[in-house]
Amino acid sequence: MIIGSISENLKIEKRVAITPDIIKKYTSLGLEVHLSKNYASHLGINDNQYENEGAKILSNDQVLSNSNAILQMNLPNEEALKKLKENQILIGVLNPYSNSEKLSDINSKKINCFSLELLPRITRAQSMDILSSQANLAGYKAVVDSFAYFQKAIPMMMTAAGTISAAKVLIVGAGVAGLQAIATAKRMGAIVFATDVRLASKEQVESLGGKFLTVEGAENLETDGGYAKEASEDFKQKQENLLKETLKKIDIVICTALIPGKKAPTIIKKDMIDVMPSGSVIYDLAASQGGNTELTKVDEVIESNGVKIMGEANILNRLAFSASNLYAKNVFNFISNLFDKEKKAFEINMEDEIINKTLVK
Ligand code: NAI
Repeated sequence: MIIGSISENLKIEKRVAITPDIIKKYTSLGLEVHLSKNYASHLGINDNQYENEGAKILSNDQVLSNSNAILQMNLPNEEALKKLKENQILIGVLNPYSNSEKLSDINSKKINCFSLELLPRITRAQSMDILSSQANLAGYKAVVDSFAYFQKAIPMMMTAAGTISAAKVLIVGAGVAGLQAIATAKRMGAIVFATDVRLASKEQVESLGGKFLTVEGAENLETDGGYAKEASEDFKQKQENLLKETLKKIDIVICTALIPGKKAPTIIKKDMIDVMPSGSVIYDLAASQGGNTELTKVDEVIESNGVKIMGEANILNRLAFSASNLYAKNVFNFISNLFDKEKKAFEINMEDEIINKTLVK
């Protein structure tokens, strides 16, 4: 059996699904690995490194035609999709909501597509959880990038020339990305505040040394699955009042708030940005889902009243090496659950929650 991967569209995606260190793990499962030429040369990984680990380097067309399973980051382009054949498997972050038409075309050709953002957040799936591995890195990078834009030092410094006070950072949304943002900002010496609609996150924020901002009288807006529910108008007003007061003293804001399947909540309005000290920076990780601020524009740096607001379509493109390393491990763990080692075949067992939930139907 062969697994393969072709080059991504480098204009929008720098991450890759297979890294050299993972090839031996595939071969020890009994799988051959085929990759297209210059597969990860943009990351400084040349084809020889893959070949030395046992992979074969071929043309895109050969990889598509040889592979029993094709492992990607994003849904391949139409030209590549047309070349897929019955009984092949396609795995990636396929975005089934916005790509529903293309995916139903592929499904009708009896190609099985697995979309990894649909993985259930159960213990057995943790090692495959691409949302966590990527959000963790995004939270880190948002802090590093916003600190780079900020014109003041982050930690408190007491020098002979005088004292510099520590920067104050607010994290909006304390899920996976938010908690890593808190940890990163704390390590750099910032004073960190955080808020979330899930009360369970209070303890996690505090354990990282952050100060949790509780919306007075608010109910816990957490679903049984651990995600956030949409807030009521009353909650939104109370949160707005609390944050408007807090933002007067905040230097850097990292926004990470999301509600699964919905547009990101607009939490920071223009009048709230107006009260922030001039020179402050907002990094909006929710930008491509609609943004947590009223002014966010994808891939642009907006300046309003001396405050910079930024957010990118894919921040992980600037951390693509590390992001690929973790993604490749997640995909390998998914494959080793899907591949029957005894039968030496991919086994689509619909009784397995991991397989059932990720299969695009
Ligand atoms: P996410 O990316 O969907 O959302 C990010 C954060 O924004 C969440 O903490 C959410 O509560 C918060 N949020 C949403 N609306 C908000 C608002 N109006 N104001 C403030 N905050 C708001 O969430 P993520 O990071 O994917 O984590 C979701 C849950 O999944 C968490 O409970 C986490 O602990 C859990 N989880 C479980 C794993 C497992 O394997 N069991 C692995 C990873 C996460």
